[in-house]
Amino acid sequence: MSQSPIENRPSKIGASAPTGVNFLASALDSPVSPAEAALRPLSFADFTGQLKTIDRLKIMVGAAKKRGEALNHILLSGPPGLGKTTLAFILGNELGKAVRVTSGPVIEKAGDLAGLLTSLEEGDILFIDEIHRIPKTVEEYLYSAMEDFRLDIMIDQGPNARSVRLSIPRFTLVGATTRSGLLTAPLRSRFTLQTRLDYYDHATLEGIVQRSCGLLGVAIDQGGAAEIATRARGTPRVANNLINFCRDYAQERAAGKITKAAAAAALELLEIDAAGLDEMDKRMLRVMAENYRGGPVGMSTIAVAVGEEAETLEEVHEPFLIQEGYLQRTPQGRTLTPKGYAAVGLKAAMGGDQSSLL
Ligand SMILES: Nc1ncnc2c1ncn2[C@@H]1O[C@H](COP(=O)(O)OP(=O)(O)O)[C@@H](O)[C@H]1O
Ligand SMILES: [Mg+2]
Repeated sequence: MSQSPIENRPSKIGASAPTGVNFLASALDSPVSPAEAALRPLSFADFTGQLKTIDRLKIMVGAAKKRGEALNHILLSGPPGLGKTTLAFILGNELGKAVRVTSGPVIEKAGDLAGLLTSLEEGDILFIDEIHRIPKTVEEYLYSAMEDFRLDIMIDQGPNARSVRLSIPRFTLVGATTRSGLLTAPLRSRFTLQTRLDYYDHATLEGIVQRSCGLLGVAIDQGGAAEIATRARGTPRVANNLINFCRDYAQERAAGKITKAAAAAALELLEIDAAGLDEMDKRMLRVMAENYRGGPVGMSTIAVAVGEEAETLEEVHEPFLIQEGYLQRTPQGRTLTPKGYAAVGLKAAMGGDQSSLL
């Protein structure tokens, strides 16, 4: 039996707080729980940060509304937890249109796509998460759907085979991807706007922490919010997860209020350090330093050494490590920077990677 193309993944409500090396991956890989979804900003006014992207989206929404037309297709890219799904729903709200949610790997065949597209109404949004994982055979149907709002589908086989043309209401495709580099050029070129979300700066993240705590009715002071923001690696979804654990910690050990000290102690327990690195990040850095003299070393090798999927390392861990200057990506593989060595309490070997070339 094939899965329904509409996403309906089980929620993890009631699951215990993840700890240790897999905290980040489980915070960022698992489906959004209903409790977390309640923290989603619903309008542009509610959404802070990502100024360039928001500006671009506001212009497109404003223009589409004035012309009474469907919004052009939009591709949102960037690491997990920065607000891609949130923005897709905000676009729906701002336009007053419905948003249908699905994801690349769930659309297995052209028929699945046809079912989704024909259920839309004029101007609705089809949100395809992980669009880089859409099967190639389905992707080709998407081209004519996006461009000409029609689908030519083959029905029957052998001598009875014939192609039927379905016309589709003018819809907007909002695609999200953590790996925009994996998108094919023809698909990419069919998006009018391609915009990348960046990690949030400290002040914005602190504001997001305050906002979430306000919505949850959690007592927190400015020091507590700043501490969580510092350790949330620029990612609202991580911040919201940390709040959950800090709230429990504060209730059990700190008279119910998330102060700077309470947040720091709680996050130490989760093994998230003052720079937001978790145990898996540290393992990666340590393996590179100790086993590979700081690299260059391929991600699949690192993955085997630390016991995690290369894909998870590339999507969840690496972008932040690169952005913060712990790692570098070179054509030969990943290399560790002096900051990367320092993060695991080591010093770059004299001559470092050069010595391996001799
Ligand atoms: N700009 C923002 N302001 C406040 N909360 C945000 C913001 N961006 C994301 N979030 C929070 O982070 C969570 C994860 O965002 P989501 O849109 O699911 O990320 P993505 O789809 O990029 O993985 C959301 O539930 C939302 O509560
Ligand atoms: Mg998402």
